Amino acid sequence: MADLIVSPQELRRRVAAWRREGQTLGFVPTMGALHEGHLSLVRQARTECKRVVVSVFVNPSQFGPGEDFSRYPRTLEEDRRLCDPLADVVFTPTVEAMYPSAQEVWVEPGPSARGLCGAFRPGHFRGVLTVVAKLFHMVDPDITYFGSKDYQQGVLVKQMVRQLGFPLEVRLCPTVREPDGLAMSSRNRYLSPAQRAQALCLIRGLRAAERLALGGGRPEVGALKAAVAAEVAKVPEAKVDYIEIVHPESLEPLTGAMRGEALAALAVRIGTTRLIDNLLLRTA
Ligand code: PAF
Repeated sequence: MADLIVSPQELRRRVAAWRREGQTLGFVPTMGALHEGHLSLVRQARTECKRVVVSVFVNPSQFGPGEDFSRYPRTLEEDRRLCDPLADVVFTPTVEAMYPSAQEVWVEPGPSARGLCGAFRPGHFRGVLTVVAKLFHMVDPDITYFGSKDYQQGVLVKQMVRQLGFPLEVRLCPTVREPDGLAMSSRNRYLSPAQRAQALCLIRGLRAAERLALGGGRPEVGALKAAVAAEVAKVPEAKVDYIEIVHPESLEPLTGAMRGEALAALAVRIGTTRLIDNLLLRTA
């Protein structure tokens, strides 16, 4: 079994010992409730690095009031089992260790956090970047691995690493999907069987936009959005937070005819569960 380490000091000692032996370190930050999406990141880390640390920490500062912090699934024993034999250490710091006093100093994201999820979850990405920065200091990895389902998070972490000079590489890895296309997410376990079927409207919408993009010519961004919206609208239970077509790096909303690559992204609530997904669109 991967070693369970709770104390940041103990983790630092372990990492220092690896470093003395010249070993490289891969890091996968998670909030637990691990699924194949997470495990694909751990596997990628395993292929590139001698040592692998997975953190499991449900970060209170990235949840807004009324969001699912208290009911977020906590499945540590199962997570540890799933990490075996891929990870060397599962790091599960306490809230007290991560936030020893009321947080006053934050990593504030830039304009790329204004749209998409940032517009609907005020303070969310500030909480994410702040905890990720703390984890990077504790783990001190060579390479860190994030999933593309949380595309905006990945872009913001890359910006933080570049602009604050963290000496590490960020890999944004492909979204892992269920056989029917639903993006894997820890929140999928909130869905009833009926809602699980309704949730397919996200990927159906994205694929409709993809077909339009590949269909020839340069489709209008408005038409791409409408193609996503039409699929989502077939499920009356699905409540849209946003459907956007944005530039894949700046995340600025695009207008006019599609040029080069574009990211189609959406957030939809099915009952009380908020799901997100995205797809990179290319013209034929
Ligand atoms: O993607 C997540 O699970 C979280 O946002 C992260 C990166 C572990 C920070 O808490």
